[in-house]
Amino acid sequence: MKVFAHRGASGEAPENSRAAIQIALDLPIFGVEIDVFAFDDDYVITHDRWLTRTTGIARRLNDLTKGELAALSAGECQGHPQSILTLAEVLALGWDEKVLNLELKSIADMQHLHDYIKTHAPDLPSGQILLSSFNHHYLASARQLQLPYERGWLTASLPLQLAATAEDSGSDWISIDMAMLDEALVKDAHARGLKVGVYTVDEEDDLALLLSMQVDAVFANHPGRAAEFIRQNR
Ligand code: G3P
Ligand code: MG
Repeated sequence: MKVFAHRGASGEAPENSRAAIQIALDLPIFGVEIDVFAFDDDYVITHDRWLTRTTGIARRLNDLTKGELAALSAGECQGHPQSILTLAEVLALGWDEKVLNLELKSIADMQHLHDYIKTHAPDLPSGQILLSSFNHHYLASARQLQLPYERGWLTASLPLQLAATAEDSGSDWISIDMAMLDEALVKDAHARGLKVGVYTVDEEDDLALLLSMQVDAVFANHPGRAAEFIRQNR
């Protein structure tokens, strides 16, 4: 079972920050999940439309200028102040073999996103990028544009025909909230050739259950702990 750091190693450093991502990149894990918003002609790494929770400033992302956004504090890690990153800053980190899972929160133009990735990370293999979203229109657009990335169908619910719908969409992954996970879904997804991810998993009991179900990946706030538990219990 693979491990994605959820919002970077967000249990160890401010979520989606450089420190959280770097901690994750230094761990023996599969990949790093971050949240992406289109912002002006750029992309920024943050989870919420409003920045209140992550910066303490009650402003809406899209009401800020680039300068205002760059000046915001996104917390600190071991005395190092953290800011809200652009996607270009993330792509410039050392990805080696790790997978960068871009969870698309709000994107205006998928072709623009692809061109941006290719401009800022021309040498990063497409196979190391996974595009995932709760907004399945973005996944459909990526498919229609034939973007060269795996696609992850995110869901926080367990609709009827979930695996069949995700298969029809051409997705590679279904990633589902732990609260909704159901063994029949895992089997149905696997029978259709889909990989199954589960978020957000930090409890050993949950990891053991997911190992027994042969789930393919978990998203963990403490990815190092999850990876070590899996190593000892697989
Ligand atoms: O991508 C998996 C997970 O991050 C989805 O939920 O709210 O943490 O972005 P959320
Ligand atoms: Mg996310």
